[in-house]
Amino acid sequence: METKILNFLKENKNTYISGEDICRRLKVSRTAVWKHIQHLKEIGYEIMAQPHLGYQIISIPDKMLPDEISDGLQTKFFGKKIISYNSTASTNDIAYNLAEQKAQEGTLVIAEEQLKGKGRLGRNWVSPQGKGIYATLILRPQLAPNEAGKITLMAAVGIAKAIRSYTGLDSLIKWPNDILVDNEKVCGILTEMSAEQDLVNFVILGMGVNINTEKHELPKGATSLKLKSKKEVNRLGFLKMMLQELEQEYLKIKNKNFAEIINQWRNLSLTLGKRICIKYKDDFLEGQALDIDEQGALIVRDDLGFLHNFLSGDVTLVR
Ligand code: BTN
Repeated sequence: METKILNFLKENKNTYISGEDICRRLKVSRTAVWKHIQHLKEIGYEIMAQPHLGYQIISIPDKMLPDEISDGLQTKFFGKKIISYNSTASTNDIAYNLAEQKAQEGTLVIAEEQLKGKGRLGRNWVSPQGKGIYATLILRPQLAPNEAGKITLMAAVGIAKAIRSYTGLDSLIKWPNDILVDNEKVCGILTEMSAEQDLVNFVILGMGVNINTEKHELPKGATSLKLKSKKEVNRLGFLKMMLQELEQEYLKIKNKNFAEIINQWRNLSLTLGKRICIKYKDDFLEGQALDIDEQGALIVRDDLGFLHNFLSGDVTLVR
């Protein structure tokens, strides 16, 4: 009912709607309308109430509310089911449990803050309240376990494209899945998977984007879209764009058109063609980053001319 009241107010954005009108149109009692309006105000909607005139919606909060994420979202299945938290330990953990309980593909788990946000290689992901996007999608791709890296590559392409079209910033991908603007990290991706011997059951695609995060809140080497574009960025608007771009890329995997994703990844890559140092396990290798293969492995040529393939690791650019 609350969604219906909200939509009714939004449809009549610039006018007052009387409580009576809402009751009549939506077949609900006056007290119920009042209670829902109070709740909407509590969660951040600005709604004016004038005696004899009624209610008018003034502004919508930039919060990860399911009603707002769904409003105008142009996707077929990403974000059709949304689980939203004000605060949680990690959206990846919630999504993993939901996926085990057969949650539908495209289910989005999202939070305003994470208390134990997880990063790659056992690191944590700084997730301050209301500043970034901390989101996880449940995917059920028809892939063999050794192809799961394709999901990370397609996600990096989708998010880099969303940043470019929403903010105009020149985002680039640092292998395997960091998104950088001017060499500083704005987004990290953490995929987790459950698989049988030859088939993936599900993939959990966790994405952290620093949107309006301030410098003092971020670790060294990180930045936010606000810091780079020098203005506040609407998180809801960006999230919708990101979900749309991600779904477009994911459909390419479903349609066995991975080559197109690889090509876009190459065009957006910060790593390829550069001299890099890659840290893997407890070892280092320096060399030239040549290309990525079909599985998303980074191909590096060492100084003796030998080629090495890496499926994981930490890359730094060498001058
Ligand atoms: C990285 O280390 O670069 C990966 C960071 C991934 C962070 C996101 S935020 C949403 C999701 N939930 C988590 O706990 N981690 C991922």
